[in-house]
Amino acid sequence: MSVKFAVLGHGVVGSGVVELFYKNRKSIEKRAGTEMDIKYILDLRDFPDSPYQDKFTKDFNDILNDDEVTSVAECMGGVEPAFTFVSACLKKGKSVSTSNKELVAEKGDILLSLAKENGCNFFFEASVGGAIPIIRPLHRCLAANDISMVAGILNGTTNFILTKMYNDNMPFAEALALAQKLGYAEKDPTADIEGHDACRKICIISSLVFGRHVYPKSVFTKGISQVELCDVAACDVLGYALKLVASVRKLDNGKILPAVMPTLVSYDSIMSGVNDVFNAVLVYGDGIDQTMFYGRGAGKLPTASAVLGDVIETAKSDGTVLSQTWEKADDDSFVESIDKLSCRWYFRVPSGAAPEGAEPYEHEDGVSFISAAEMSFADARAKAKELGALAYYPVL
Ligand code: HSE
Repeated sequence: MSVKFAVLGHGVVGSGVVELFYKNRKSIEKRAGTEMDIKYILDLRDFPDSPYQDKFTKDFNDILNDDEVTSVAECMGGVEPAFTFVSACLKKGKSVSTSNKELVAEKGDILLSLAKENGCNFFFEASVGGAIPIIRPLHRCLAANDISMVAGILNGTTNFILTKMYNDNMPFAEALALAQKLGYAEKDPTADIEGHDACRKICIISSLVFGRHVYPKSVFTKGISQVELCDVAACDVLGYALKLVASVRKLDNGKILPAVMPTLVSYDSIMSGVNDVFNAVLVYGDGIDQTMFYGRGAGKLPTASAVLGDVIETAKSDGTVLSQTWEKADDDSFVESIDKLSCRWYFRVPSGAAPEGAEPYEHEDGVSFISAAEMSFADARAKAKELGALAYYPVL
């Protein structure tokens, strides 16, 4: 038997899939227990210098109508045309492995159902955390747990930017340009900076863990575009790293509370030391207490590693449906309002504006930081208004 698969998209991730496959083909085939090859690479662009000229096609139908192709790696990104192509493949019984978090966050419930109906697999390990194995561990290795919270640094670009700002005093724009050059950022880096990419990833984790589709529009999302160097520097003096944290909590009322926000992470927490393009995911469960997953969260070969892991799993599955399903959600009534998020907070106020008795930390840039005891997001928002705060951040 021999498995032939196609790669949709020859950008950063797609080209990484081709490169890593041919680099390690022998050991991949050994692990898969079958011969394997890439039959097609789909891309509208020309790649005259590629050694794989014979594999390129611009016509998706070449792949769809070739019965020899049983598995597809989708690395195009974006909802369309990826959704149309992936749906068509699944309807034909071709398993799909994707790195496309936007697709899974928006259409995961539909695609998982389609895979099940057609006796094939829809895998998406590469959609969260780049190289980090997190999807399969969550729904298989940790399946015995009642999971109460997942919190992570899920965007490599913003973690890279925050690290460069802090370590090298590098301005925001320069750090972003470097992240783009290294292939970490999205085509439109607004998705990274404003937290939408991390939001999609926490939606995928929430859907997987809690069994109902969570849509990005239901998740409070704040990125790092308003974070200033003085925030990062002041946090350090106060004993925290400032990180873009995506989290989801299970509440006592049965609802879940997902959110993405720049957050103070104590230096006592192992997550505070997660720097550069690295991601980390902390999972809290009644059996495991807490477990952390760590690795490169973006980049060509790290993401390709996760895509190929799924392609190999498909080759080994031998027609068995192994992928998880979750319920469609007709409404988001099971997602609690962000106003109910309860935690400690820090407020950045203009110097001299701290109320009496607040004992602020005075930063050299003419701003002060005031810590506050645990309160809800709604109360923190009101307090920020009352203080004339320039920014306010939760503490993990
Ligand atoms: N732009 C994403 C990031 C790529 O920086 O994390 C990996 O999903």
